[in-house]
Amino acid sequence: MSELRTEPGAAPTPVLQLTGVVKQYRAGDEQVRVLDGLDFALCPGEFVTVTGPSGSGKSTLLHIAGGLDTPDEGTVAVAGTDIWSMSSGARAAFRRRNLGFVFQFFNLVPTLSAVENVSLPLVLDGMSARTADARALELLRRVGLGDRARHRPAELSGGQMQRVAVARALVAQPSIILADEPTGNLDSHSSTAVLDLLRALSDDDRTAVMLVTHDRTAASYASREVHIGDGQACGQGVPVAEAR
Ligand SMILES: Nc1ncnc2c1ncn2[C@@H]1O[C@H](COP(=O)(O)OP(=O)(O)OP(=O)(O)O)[C@@H](O)[C@H]1O
Ligand SMILES: [Mg+2]
Repeated sequence: MSELRTEPGAAPTPVLQLTGVVKQYRAGDEQVRVLDGLDFALCPGEFVTVTGPSGSGKSTLLHIAGGLDTPDEGTVAVAGTDIWSMSSGARAAFRRRNLGFVFQFFNLVPTLSAVENVSLPLVLDGMSARTADARALELLRRVGLGDRARHRPAELSGGQMQRVAVARALVAQPSIILADEPTGNLDSHSSTAVLDLLRALSDDDRTAVMLVTHDRTAASYASREVHIGDGQACGQGVPVAEAR
């Protein structure tokens, strides 16, 4: 990944930059323009929440930003690299190394233990099982689950599963975490634990966090909020609250 440099007094270099992103879907005879020329930049260490009504395009935005869904127009650059100009194989490898995903329904592999779930991205990337296992264990300890490493997802609570998912998202030391309603299935205690964890990452490691959420308490964690308008496509001039 290209190095991110910030000259004194210069604007920080975004780690994620979306330019003129358009996404439309066909619904019967109708073409629905979900993203309409979206410009968005995320800088190292930022914690941005993305809010908006159901169906306004939040997940679409996150998927396109993370290389999981194709934009119809526009570019997505991660640390200066245009991810949509790569082959799909190169993009998958780039994604594993540079981006961490956390989803509402955890998306853990049910047949694998917690530590195997966390080490999977490293193993897929060619790391030896032993080294990947050690790194995964370290991450599980960091999220407070060192004593649950050999448990399968079905033997964990929702909050514990989500902390395993956060550990997996972090294992390759990505520069960006993309989280789509990660507290949507958690009680308030577990939600706070997951939000605290994400906030600590952005504070301590300068990991940039983009968090789609309906959770009102999440706003208090954000350094910036992006709101996708009511039933409108989000486009240029998306209102962005002042950074706190
Ligand atoms: N694969 C698809 N085919 C057709 N339409 C789609 C597809 N994916 C999403 N859409 C439409 O795009 C719009 C935005 O969907 P998206 O999932 O991004 O919304 P959202 O803001 O994440 O909503 P929620 O808060 O309910 O998760 C919706 O109107 C949805 O119906
Ligand atoms: Mg969604």
